[in-house]
Amino acid sequence: MKRLKIKEVLAGGQVGQQVLVKGWVRTKRGSKNVNFIALNDGSTIHNLQIVADVEKFGEELLKEINTSTSLAITGELVESQGSGQAVELNASDIIIYGKADPEKYPIQPKKHSLEFLRENAHLRFRTATFSAVFRIRHAMAFAIHKYFNDKGFYYLHTPIITASDAEGAGQMFRVSTLPAVNPPSTEEGDVDFAQDFFGRPTNLTVSGQLEGELGATALGEIYTFGPTFRAENSNTTRHLAEFWMIEPEMAFYELTDNMDLAEEFLKYLIEYALENCLDDLKFLSNRLQQEEKDKPADQRSMELIEKLQFVRDNDFVRCTYTEAIDILKNSKPYKKGKFQFPVEWGIDLQSEHERYLVEKHFQKPVILINYPKDIKAFYMKQNDDGKTVAAMDVLFPQIGEIIGGSQREENYDKLVARMEEMDIPAEEMWWYLDTRRFGTVPHAGFGLGFERFILFVTGMGNIRDVIAFPRTPKNAEF
Ligand code: 4AD
Ligand code: MG
Repeated sequence: MKRLKIKEVLAGGQVGQQVLVKGWVRTKRGSKNVNFIALNDGSTIHNLQIVADVEKFGEELLKEINTSTSLAITGELVESQGSGQAVELNASDIIIYGKADPEKYPIQPKKHSLEFLRENAHLRFRTATFSAVFRIRHAMAFAIHKYFNDKGFYYLHTPIITASDAEGAGQMFRVSTLPAVNPPSTEEGDVDFAQDFFGRPTNLTVSGQLEGELGATALGEIYTFGPTFRAENSNTTRHLAEFWMIEPEMAFYELTDNMDLAEEFLKYLIEYALENCLDDLKFLSNRLQQEEKDKPADQRSMELIEKLQFVRDNDFVRCTYTEAIDILKNSKPYKKGKFQFPVEWGIDLQSEHERYLVEKHFQKPVILINYPKDIKAFYMKQNDDGKTVAAMDVLFPQIGEIIGGSQREENYDKLVARMEEMDIPAEEMWWYLDTRRFGTVPHAGFGLGFERFILFVTGMGNIRDVIAFPRTPKNAEF
């Protein structure tokens, strides 16, 4: 018999139909005559209820079936006696693939903390919460490709190992085959990278943007979607050392076009999630509502699905950095000394500032533009005021910065001058500068932090819970 996925059985199974399903036990409860097994195979948040007659299968066999035991079950679909589903499965044959000793299996059918599940990241996929998160993550990855493909953007694979520092922030993981102890050294005693695999120092990429610009200034519109790496020692709920980034780069786009694309793109993804992941979103929303109950009423956040609809349906606010500083300086928390970090024109906004703007002042997603040039990367287009660059950050409720992007400096002389000011070796970046030397055009792009976006869509609170195997300082166990 052909195996059916539980999702298919629940959506279209007919009473009287013979089916074969396979999966892992979530829970089992029983009476003297009959056992009820909730079976899940990952295809949906919902479990299929299996009815197993004690006399037929014997207590010995049924005793072997515990949470996470893997099973194949054949039987007839019968009308459900009230499990909230149309059908349940009356088992005629049960095969146990693998037992799971309840004394040893760490994830039992009770409420485990997310912290505990993080320590068991290798098994947490088997919980309802994490299976929902990873199904949504998959759907969003798929929707990203669909969005760009439908718009005629090309998916460009930029390198993971590079010799350049795209953001010029020095937060790179070195890649080397030299021995960690006693590496070959030069006469001056420095590590001799000429003897390393690539004959020079290399690192894991922090961003595919620079190579993306090479693609865009020929193919027109490209996007990257790959892992990026940052050795920033930030132990927060918003930072990973290894995260995935989506970086569209478009020739002939200026800052406004870039903003329009970012807003349309985010709304498209949210709409896709609402249309295709509603069961999982409802589950996560209920879970959150349970947690919110313990908070004082004024601190509770909007219900997850309402929040997604709100972002989908409302225009983002567009505001300059300079206006934002004014707003912050006139804010209650500033006047009452409630911000931890100072507010002054020229500062890099901290997440408390970003969240004030989004959650308290505007109460909408915000696109902040025209940041001071001294806090932004070398490649951004310099504005005529001599002080700011055509940068844009998209700020989201509960997250803060979700997108960072800009129009790029297309003028060769201005770009080289800026690189010199910032001590970025122009001679090593000759290949990048060639885009400005030969047929330069206005162009722009941005980077969406995939995990930050998944945090927003799932309503999860910690970035470690939306990537399968989080890499954070002192943590690379799995
Ligand atoms: O603002 P960032 O540093 O921008 C760039 O890397 C540009 N090259 C993008 C471009 O214009 N093509 O990073 C972009 C986004 C941030 O807004 C944030 O969402 C995410 O990447 N991000 C991180 N996410 C998780 N952990 C980290 N350590 C992150 N650093 C940045
Ligand atoms: Mg940024």
